[in-house]
Amino acid sequence: MSSARPTTTNAGIPVASDDHSLTAGPNGPVLLQDHYLIEKNAQFNRERVPERVVHAKGGGAFGFFEVTEDVSQYTKAAVFQPGTKTETLVRFSSVAGELGSPDTWRDPRGTAIKFYTTEGNYDLVGNNTPVFFIRDAIKFPDFIRSQKRRADNHLRDHDMQWDFWTHCPESAHQVTWLMGDRGIPRTWRHMNMYGSHTFMWVNAAGEKFWVKYHFKTDQGHDFLTQAEADRLAGEDADHHIRDLWSAIKGGEHPSWTLYVQVMPFEDAADYRFNPFDLTKVWPHSDYPLIKVGRFVLNRNPENYFAQIEQAAFEPANMVPGIGASPDKMLQGRLFSYPDAHRYRIGTNYMDLPVNRPVAPVNSYAKDGSMRFSFGVGDPVYAPNSYSGPHADASYDTDDSAHGIEQEVIRSAYQLHSEDDDFGQPGALVRNVFSDEQRARFIDNVAGHLSKGVSKPILERAFDYWRSVDKDTGDKIAEKVQSNLS
Ligand code: NDP
Ligand code: HEM
Repeated sequence: MSSARPTTTNAGIPVASDDHSLTAGPNGPVLLQDHYLIEKNAQFNRERVPERVVHAKGGGAFGFFEVTEDVSQYTKAAVFQPGTKTETLVRFSSVAGELGSPDTWRDPRGTAIKFYTTEGNYDLVGNNTPVFFIRDAIKFPDFIRSQKRRADNHLRDHDMQWDFWTHCPESAHQVTWLMGDRGIPRTWRHMNMYGSHTFMWVNAAGEKFWVKYHFKTDQGHDFLTQAEADRLAGEDADHHIRDLWSAIKGGEHPSWTLYVQVMPFEDAADYRFNPFDLTKVWPHSDYPLIKVGRFVLNRNPENYFAQIEQAAFEPANMVPGIGASPDKMLQGRLFSYPDAHRYRIGTNYMDLPVNRPVAPVNSYAKDGSMRFSFGVGDPVYAPNSYSGPHADASYDTDDSAHGIEQEVIRSAYQLHSEDDDFGQPGALVRNVFSDEQRARFIDNVAGHLSKGVSKPILERAFDYWRSVDKDTGDKIAEKVQSNLS
């Protein structure tokens, strides 16, 4: 059968059959000469790249961010100037599960955003929670291992999860969040996105501010109960991917409104909480939300692997007017992501269309496996006498690394007057959760603790929850004891 679009080899050469290999006679052995057969199977054996070590299961879409307000007094970043519209990509994910795991497992959701700005790619790699389980990057691999699988039987294990959490009381705020309604969003459209860390903004006059990002869902918050999530995990493991894809395909374009909290640079030194501690929020009463703009998703990927699986987000991608803060977690993440991409995708991952900036790239990076952009060409070094690109000191935003002149030590953060691990989760349980939310929260924690957690760790977990809120802790203990009796 002839076709207007004949199948070809990867070299574009038309092939004679999609169905039959080349053999010596109809029943004879297959010939090595069948280059297409070999190419097809060899390519198949190499279809996968390693899945992300965390956040392996996810989906995403393209869209835009539009600045509707004027925040130029706080940042000179082109992406946040009034009226600016920037193309974006988002990848949503869950954290601990593998690439094929159910979308509805209780877990934080990753919200990785790439802004293709005129000043280069700006990546805001956040979560649907404003806080995190730990405050020092040195604990990250241990934390993740406790959430993944045991060495012996390859099973996930609640005993090791609670063992880690109760040894690290700074986890209490995020675990409280996780066990509440927002721990299983109904869809990715029905949850907020947060930058989580504190970042630095710099305005055109060189003044600096500390900033936190909140993308509030315009769809409203909605969640799945544990029972609904368990059912869906069996019926439709890809529930969240399917929901986002179908909504966009049907013309329902989800949107979020971006707000920021802005802290004057000098406030950080003696604010009542350490403003760089990722286990804390800044109460809105201290730093109210300031509206910035609208974030819309309106285009599905055409090829999941090329545009979502190979998307590479990195917190170190910050554009002029935006810088890092001394948050020890953020500092650790600045290293981790490009290192992961080089391993997972390859040295020249930035050459892939989904990762390529719309801004001109004048990098002296050269060669390496699978390189196809040409780089700056000759001269291939700097400095040079031949008008090659040269760096411009006016783009320096690395001076946020204050404190660097101090003695080199390993220590916890210096405490601010109201720093503690349990105050903010206590406020969440007592002041933010409604009675119904608190009742579901107690059920969720007790249900989780009733699955294979050993006695000494259970006792520690009861103390942990009593430290968050005495009454709630007592109720959790009672419920677990009744579940186990
Ligand atoms: P506010 O009353 O000003 O803020 C409470 C926040 O809680 C709102 O942003 C609300 O988000 C959010 N919220 C509502 N229901 C839930 C839920 N079930 N799970 C998680 N968050 C929820 O108080 P404060 O700023 O003083 O913060 C009090 C506590 O609220 C904090 O300790 C923290 O646990 C939590 N929180 C604080 C945030 C902050 O940035 N200050 C952000 C989110 C939570 P929404 O408006 O989207 O409904
Ligand atoms: C993914 C490391 C904390 C959000 C990843 C990946 C690594 C990593 C190695 C895989 C990257 C890839 O292969 O593409 C770390 C380390 C952390 C940390 C070392 C702490 C020190 C956080 C925090 C957040 C976060 C605090 C959110 C506030 C994400 C998201 C992804 C991710 C959203 C998925 C990105 C995507 O969709 O491609 N992390 N992480 N991580 N991380 Fe982290």
